[in-house]
Amino acid sequence: MARIYIKTYGCQMNERDSEQVAQMLLQRGHTITVKEEEADVVLLNTCSVRDLAEQKALGKMGMLRALSQDRPVVYGFLGCMAQIRGTTLLDEVPHLDLVVGTQKFHRVAEYVEKAIEQKWAARQDDVRFSIVDVEEESASQSTIRDHVLGKRQVTAFVSIMQGCNMHCTFCIVPYTRGHERSRPQHEIVSEVKTLVGQGVKEVTLLGQIVNLYGRHEFATLDGKSPFVQLLEALQQVAGLERLRFTSPHPIGFRHDLIESFGRLPKLVEHVHLPLQSGSNRILKAMHRTYTAEKFISLVDRIRSVTPNIAITTDIIVGFPGESDDDYAQTRQLADRIGFDNAFVFKYSKRKDTPAAKLDQQVPDSVREARNHDLLDVINTWTKRRSEPFVGREVEILCEGPSKTNPARLVGRTRGNKIVVFEGAPQHVGALLNVRIARSTGYTLYGEALSS
Ligand code: 5AD
Repeated sequence: MARIYIKTYGCQMNERDSEQVAQMLLQRGHTITVKEEEADVVLLNTCSVRDLAEQKALGKMGMLRALSQDRPVVYGFLGCMAQIRGTTLLDEVPHLDLVVGTQKFHRVAEYVEKAIEQKWAARQDDVRFSIVDVEEESASQSTIRDHVLGKRQVTAFVSIMQGCNMHCTFCIVPYTRGHERSRPQHEIVSEVKTLVGQGVKEVTLLGQIVNLYGRHEFATLDGKSPFVQLLEALQQVAGLERLRFTSPHPIGFRHDLIESFGRLPKLVEHVHLPLQSGSNRILKAMHRTYTAEKFISLVDRIRSVTPNIAITTDIIVGFPGESDDDYAQTRQLADRIGFDNAFVFKYSKRKDTPAAKLDQQVPDSVREARNHDLLDVINTWTKRRSEPFVGREVEILCEGPSKTNPARLVGRTRGNKIVVFEGAPQHVGALLNVRIARSTGYTLYGEALSS
């Protein structure tokens, strides 16, 4: 039996995929370790969305080579970078044993065992062998379904689909994750029921374009998309308290979904709605298929149904050809909407994506300056959106002790604001009311009210 170290880069879906891998390894009797120095197997689940993420994973794998100086260690790259780079990774990283793509996470345990067997049986350290599996697999979307829950864990991610058909010109995801494929509703509902049976109170549904769930597989009924039908089915799950999803695309965010926020009490008052740019010219070049005006109108409609809904976003600065004026429009739009928070990314050229071939790549100094400037706007709004909570009572789902100060507890509001508070051990895993005393902008601080 082996000790396995798994490190995950990138998004929540990658975290969820790693959890599936961990569950299968644990089930076969292996142990998961957080200490890389004691690992028999090192698995890095990678991200390709920006170059930096790839460089980090490659650098880490290089550093961890030292572990195999005095004992056999199996090394594997999983996920997005493994998918797009495939066998070429074996040339770049000579000590690599496994390369497993995004539709094969459920095979990792088996491959790890094969690799261990060969390594441990080998008399010489330099015996070369490798396993590369980056094939497509139909129904791979249904293989991410098992969980490893911590003690008193009350939140969980549920992967409801894989892939993306949108082809935004900056984005590598369609190449790393394949085309859109969704799981049947009954599988998802039964996974959520099992989680709730184990104490989970909040689930976050995951998909690359989550609101387009099921559009190829299932019919719209009574004007309700398959995604809204899924939300309705989950609303019925007794014991589930909160329902989140990430990330939707403004395209396909229709009336049926907007009005769900007013109608389904478990659906929380938060939506992460990627904007990417506030310039129509750049949105067009990104192939986002909406305009700034349409985005504003969508936000207005969402807010008219749910006035206090928290809205967060993703924005890219320095897309090829983005002029000072284009950027100014993004800045202005961010300021007009007043997002609760945002991830701001400097455009990163991704090999073989349409935008990589565009002329007028924006110099790094300009991307850096716009990144910095936009973060100022975002941070100002984050603070402004948090201030009204001071002095108020809010409902928190307590996730456990705060990482920075274990004497305190941490939880989230329905609007996804982080709250650190003074509480008691019985609050862990509970829904409770907290009175907010102060805000730093990103974190609210307070005291538990109910016991
Ligand atoms: N460069 C910078 N940011 C990117 N994103 C996706 N591709 C790129 C890229 N090439 C950002 C988008 C997306 C988020 C997950 O990552 O904003 O919404």
